[in-house]
Amino acid sequence: MSDDDELEVELEARLEEQEEFEPPESFVEQANVTDEGIYEEFEENWPEAWERAADLLDWQSDYDTVLDESEAPFYKWFTGGSLNASENCLDRHLDERGDEAAIEWVGELGEERTYTYEQLHEEVNEFAAVLRDQGVQEDDVVTMYMPMIPELPIAMLACARIGAPHAVVFAGFSADALATRMNAADSEHLVTCDGYYRRGDPLHHLDKAEEGLESVDQDVTSIVVDRLEDDFDHDLGPSQHDYHDLLAEQEGATVEPVSRDAEDMLFLMYTSGTTGKPKGVKHTTAGYLAYAAWTSHAVLDIKPDDTYFCSADIGWITGHSYIVYGPLALGTTSVMYEGTPDYPDKDRMWEIVDDHNVNQLYTAPTAIRAFMKWGEQYPNKHDLSSLRLLGTVGEPINPRAWKWYYKHIGQESCPIVDTWWQTETGGMMVTTIPAIENMKPGSAGPPLPGISADIVDERGSPVEAGRAGYLIVNKPWPGMLRTLYKNDERFIDEYWDEYSIPEKDQWVYFPEDGAKIDDDGFITVLGRVDDVLNVSGHRLGTMEIESAIVGVPGVAEAAVVGGDHEMKGEAVYTYVITEDGYEGDEELRQEIIEAVEDSIGPIARPEAVVFSPELPKTRSGKIMRRLLEDIANGEELGNTSTLRNPEVVEEIAKKAQDD
Ligand code: WT7
Repeated sequence: MSDDDELEVELEARLEEQEEFEPPESFVEQANVTDEGIYEEFEENWPEAWERAADLLDWQSDYDTVLDESEAPFYKWFTGGSLNASENCLDRHLDERGDEAAIEWVGELGEERTYTYEQLHEEVNEFAAVLRDQGVQEDDVVTMYMPMIPELPIAMLACARIGAPHAVVFAGFSADALATRMNAADSEHLVTCDGYYRRGDPLHHLDKAEEGLESVDQDVTSIVVDRLEDDFDHDLGPSQHDYHDLLAEQEGATVEPVSRDAEDMLFLMYTSGTTGKPKGVKHTTAGYLAYAAWTSHAVLDIKPDDTYFCSADIGWITGHSYIVYGPLALGTTSVMYEGTPDYPDKDRMWEIVDDHNVNQLYTAPTAIRAFMKWGEQYPNKHDLSSLRLLGTVGEPINPRAWKWYYKHIGQESCPIVDTWWQTETGGMMVTTIPAIENMKPGSAGPPLPGISADIVDERGSPVEAGRAGYLIVNKPWPGMLRTLYKNDERFIDEYWDEYSIPEKDQWVYFPEDGAKIDDDGFITVLGRVDDVLNVSGHRLGTMEIESAIVGVPGVAEAAVVGGDHEMKGEAVYTYVITEDGYEGDEELRQEIIEAVEDSIGPIARPEAVVFSPELPKTRSGKIMRRLLEDIANGEELGNTSTLRNPEVVEEIAKKAQDD
């Protein structure tokens, strides 16, 4: 047996036993947080211990209260303090790190752009002046519909500088999705671009933005970045301006960072929920920023001299917290990649790690599964020895993928942090602190210091170790969402009401995830318990997809569930009942797929459309999704005895197979 095989067997055995992996000594010696007493410190000195996070920021005026619980669950953090996020991410680093790289951007065609802190500061100031000149006032919501180009973080930081909250809409979302979000936020300003590159080809984006604007109720002025230059000519209308023209007009302008109250909104981020309407999650200036900086420091082990690479898209919360705000608040170098991991070849990520001497890599299980499928020859082509820590986020990681990541990317000398969190939590919640705990593949770890989480049953009572239940968080934390934008009522309904424990007079945050906890306090997250799918680490509401489908002529009813998918984790399975006079044929199937792509985007594209005579329903008329999931997964069908129409189940299963 070769050494490699032997190792394979040994790793396999350790995984079987769920044996723990120790962090390498070399890592522990240099780590930011090494004192295990930190857990106790937070517990005994709660909430004051959170000053540790606040101390990572520069304040214009000091806060007087760490946590104000008087209007729970509208918790407030660091009240009385004021600060500016752009000042914290830029200005304060200029003296010592002005010439160091803040952003190292890699374009898909291989071009690179580096912004030192000095240069980033300069462009952010100029763009802040542009925004002001365009009439953007403090508290106006500015929407960004942009791919991974440097102008996106620049625009975000410029907004932060003048106190205008940003709302970034993922560039892969459809025109409709943009319109829904801009209408919900009542946003009159849009920053977008003409297009970007995908697999080497220019992809037009402005057309999609313009199409979306047609359905926006308010008047909107747009600023358009010319990313494609000669590859795509575009004309600008009267309410559209060219980014670089406007910037040139403000050359050398400086804008004082406005003083924002700790609780002032830094940004809005729309995410999917169980109803058709996306939720506008509101994050604040102090609590969010302190939390993003603290977790970047404690979990990702970021130091100013590091080069750190997160492969997420800034259009999602991971990119906000861990490409932009956390890393830049700490003054480090953040690598940003425009494109896909398999263009021009499947070693693109490893080429970036190698060329940029990346110290920490933060990516998603869905990507790791793809790397694994492509094979170890791709990472093996490169020198990955600069890596010190690996991270994963977005969905549960299966031990096999964990092991591959550990061995072939981390060369068994990097700890892996499996970080559980959500758009709503602002930053990581459940994960190991890499120098303190051992790792258990597949299990995220204990709640971070100061985070109080538990696994409970329907009645809110803790379940015993090893049993599945609902994950809850029973103390507030600085990075938590403050409300759903303009919808306090829904905020309470969605996250607090149902699962709170009134007799204890205690609010409990319910993230809608199932989980189990082991005797040692490690939490294994099992997945969503609401009607939200997790496709390649992206959250999609089944209701949103269903309402797109029922809008197609000929469709009477639709149900969407998640089916297991080797690469994506979950895939979209749809069951459709046609109206009388319509046939479930190939044409209708295509129309359904297109409708979903138009209303949400290609990420929501159904894996399967099954035309069925009826949907399995309980006597009270509720669709039994569990059965549809079993069908999607080709599993033995569960109990059908509570159904009004048990006979349809076999029929649907047969149709699903035939299709
Ligand atoms: C949902 C949140 C966190 C930023 C990216 C997604 C799932 C996230 C993990 C993990 C198991 C995870 C949960 C969560 N999730 N991280 N490490 N292990 N599940 O943010 O779009 O708000 O989705 O992603 O189900 O609720 P999001």
